[in-house]
Amino acid sequence: MKVYQDGKIVFVIGLAVLGLSISACGGESGPPQPPPPAPPEYADKHMPPDYWNNPAIIEEGKAIFTGVQNIDVNCASCHGKDGKPVKAGARDFRNTEHMKLYSDSQWFWRVNEGVAGTKMKAWKSKLSEDAIWKVIAFEATFGLNGQKYDPGKKAWVPADAPMTAPAGAASEPAEGEPKTE
Ligand code: HEC
Repeated sequence: MKVYQDGKIVFVIGLAVLGLSISACGGESGPPQPPPPAPPEYADKHMPPDYWNNPAIIEEGKAIFTGVQNIDVNCASCHGKDGKPVKAGARDFRNTEHMKLYSDSQWFWRVNEGVAGTKMKAWKSKLSEDAIWKVIAFEATFGLNGQKYDPGKKAWVPADAPMTAPAGAASEPAEGEPKTE
């Protein structure tokens, strides 16, 4: 009888543990959450179209990301050389589902202004707009290799897909010419 009772207790505890772990999973390993929308002044910020998947640009972006160009700007010290985070709090840039939730403007906004209350600081005092686009072109190779963001379609599309003009925009600024607001 004692043995039977003990067995019942173990069974009940087992159920409770199972229930807890199922609910914990639901909270932690659910689908990645989209970032908040970028402030309106970022709506017109887009990657120069010929930067996507451009080996020369990606090479420059890599030199910035890894601190080779300027040791004060070493994204890899937290985000890892290959996008695999090396500091707590940074997300995995190799995760395509996470990367896809960002538009090019949202990536730009995060790098330019940082994320308040986290280790991610604003880089605008250290990086020009052009340098930020290069670093993003490199960052995209971790999880979105071979794709580019189409601001007209508001979606990631294959690198060889024709670009839709962003809604409302008459023309893109010429390459290397920073857009003055
Ligand atoms: C000191 C550590 C650190 C450094 C250096 C750093 N980051 Fe971050 N970064 C973070 C953390 C932590 C987050 C997550 C912030 C949050 O919780 O939303 C983040 C978020 C981001 C995001 C937003 C995407 C996301 O996963 O939420 C981008 C884009 C990004 N970093 C790019 C860069 C780039 C580019 C550089 C170099 C110019 C850089 N980071 C340097 C720690 C760092």
